[in-house]
Amino acid sequence: MHNKITDIEPVKLQDSLMTHEKSYDSTYTGLIANYAADIRMSAIKEMAMLSAQLGDVASLTWGLPSFRTPEYIRHGIIKQLADDEDIGKYALPDGLKDLRSIVARQHRLSVGVDVEADDQVMITAGNMQAMSSLLHAIVNPGDEIILTDPCFSSHIQQVKLYGGKPVYWPLDEANDWVPDMDVLSTLVSNNTKAIVIVSPSNPTGKIFGQQTLMAIGELAREHGFLILIDDPYSYFLYENRQKYFNLASVPEFSENTVYMFSFSKAYAMSGWRLGYMILPAWLKAQIIKIHDLNMICTPRISQVAAKIALTGEPYHIKEFEAIFARRRALICQRLDNMPDIFGYIKPQGAYYVFPKIRVKHNNAHDFCLDVLYQAKVALTPGSAFGPSGEGHVRMAYCVSDETINMAFDRLENYFAGI
Ligand SMILES: Cc1ncc(COP(=O)(O)O)c(C=O)c1O
Repeated sequence: MHNKITDIEPVKLQDSLMTHEKSYDSTYTGLIANYAADIRMSAIKEMAMLSAQLGDVASLTWGLPSFRTPEYIRHGIIKQLADDEDIGKYALPDGLKDLRSIVARQHRLSVGVDVEADDQVMITAGNMQAMSSLLHAIVNPGDEIILTDPCFSSHIQQVKLYGGKPVYWPLDEANDWVPDMDVLSTLVSNNTKAIVIVSPSNPTGKIFGQQTLMAIGELAREHGFLILIDDPYSYFLYENRQKYFNLASVPEFSENTVYMFSFSKAYAMSGWRLGYMILPAWLKAQIIKIHDLNMICTPRISQVAAKIALTGEPYHIKEFEAIFARRRALICQRLDNMPDIFGYIKPQGAYYVFPKIRVKHNNAHDFCLDVLYQAKVALTPGSAFGPSGEGHVRMAYCVSDETINMAFDRLENYFAGI
């Protein structure tokens, strides 16, 4: 079929301008700091906002699970709102003491390592805020942060926001997105402050193996940089559970490793803005100041909800995983029906697939705008996830089966008509 396709008619770019992209005629625009003017709006949110403007879009752009926050958490918080006199008040910057103890216990259960609730645990407003505070604390202008390529798009902009330089560690798509340790060692310099690990990965779903992760740990220890583990997805591993390894389980690396857990996906609590961070005491002493200046504390109502979430029976997680497994099968089957348009590697975990665009196109961003405006399907351009992502799109299959089917029905119609 792709032989028939010559070119995709690009949409007029001005149609797609968002508020943040328009040039405003004000004498005050010079007040904006360079770093703010220079960073880009997340392509994920850009596509989500354009979709909202357009209406009736089948959206595979945002990694926002379709689930409601589980009932035991919702009911528990209703009771706490009635009974807890302090629920509307500030908490201390690192979070409620009893919640930090619960988190320390949870961490011991999941990775087998003891941590000090007072010195090594912080409650955060999700992994995005945790990563932002961390980078804010460690990056001097010109410092380098190693990111896998492709990686989570916001990490690129967060590094830039603090004047840092993202250093890309290209993953080999031809080899199932396997990272190459020989390449990594050539990327380390005197300016390297940290490497960021997301496994299973957003956007590829790749799970990084124990051997690779241990080698990263050794390299980081040898050169004295941090390992920042951003973990929203480790509950979604499907048939690949035995491939998963958490570097936070290795006590030898605890002095230079930060583990960030997000409640957004596993507990369907994205709007509560909630996470926790396990970190060395020397680093917590710095982060706590930044966290305080940025937000004083994670909203206390969310912290109380975290206590309910972690002390109740998380029966829902297996259900979520089973539903995502079904949706992964569905999206793979729908992709299999479009081999001339998309080529893909079956994701191992998380809930994203990162197909290569096989039809002629200018670039992934324009391709996504075309598909959005002409087929009313929202995809995220792969270029947002690093240089290796160009020529790809990210599809999130955490949305309903109906949305996946509607998106693919529309894509099939659109490409059949070109
Ligand atoms: C790798 C990664 N980190 C962080 C986030 C945001 O997590 P949170 O809602 O905890 O801020 C996401 C959301 O998609 C993500 O994929």
